[in-house]
Amino acid sequence: MQERKKSEYPGRVYWYKQVESTNTTARNLAGQGAGEWTAVVAFQQTAGRGRYRRRWLSSPGKGIYLSVVLRPRVQPTEVNLINLSTALVVADFLEKLTNAVENPITVGLKWPNDVLVNHRKIAGILLETGYRQQQVDFVVVGIGINLNHAEADFPEELRHQATSLFMETGKEWDVPATTTNFLSDFYRGMHRYLSTRFAHVLDLYRQRLLFRNETIQVVVNNSPLKGILKDVDEQGFLLLQTDHGILRITSGEVGVGG
Ligand code: BTN
Repeated sequence: MQERKKSEYPGRVYWYKQVESTNTTARNLAGQGAGEWTAVVAFQQTAGRGRYRRRWLSSPGKGIYLSVVLRPRVQPTEVNLINLSTALVVADFLEKLTNAVENPITVGLKWPNDVLVNHRKIAGILLETGYRQQQVDFVVVGIGINLNHAEADFPEELRHQATSLFMETGKEWDVPATTTNFLSDFYRGMHRYLSTRFAHVLDLYRQRLLFRNETIQVVVNNSPLKGILKDVDEQGFLLLQTDHGILRITSGEVGVGG
């Protein structure tokens, strides 16, 4: 492990060759009192975690795997807005990065925080919150971005659902340089969203939200719910129009059609 201080980034950045999960390392550091913006970056994860206890493919040299400790002064109900803010920062970063190449990409968001290009997932976000006396003590924001995967690098079952910057642009990306670049953008974007109390987050999020007014299926606690995706509410929760009226979904996995 190496520790470097980046001038454009206000927090400590711990670079590891390999960890089980950067989220786990960052949570441990947060529990030991690590300051805001402390970041954990790994070249490889042996047990990268996704939402719903899934694994996150984390082969060396293929992707960005990092987690950042935040200590936001927010209510527990506002943590979801950090989730949406992170998705926006990642989407803006990826579009900015590819602006200069031959095949720039357009990024859409599948509620709450899947980052998609051409309807395939290019990045995933996993937030984990630590509480103290029912208040938010820290939020670990874990981000995985597929940079250099070829289609064959993904397991069979993900092949038609996943993509990478390499697959979209035909260009290989330097992982450490892109990571450093991302951390600066993450700081700038997230700092702005937090310090404005998420003033523009919902408007910006709605501009990128996919499947609006389309029929979707949301799996909530293992039960599928079918309806029309209408909007997100002020807390960033999903509004689903069903035969029984509008349902407000706080957590679930969106699928299309079904
Ligand atoms: C998802 O879409 O299911 C979320 C995936 C989050 C993956 C990242 S990679 C860095 C950080 N460490 C982890 O173990 N998970 C997150």
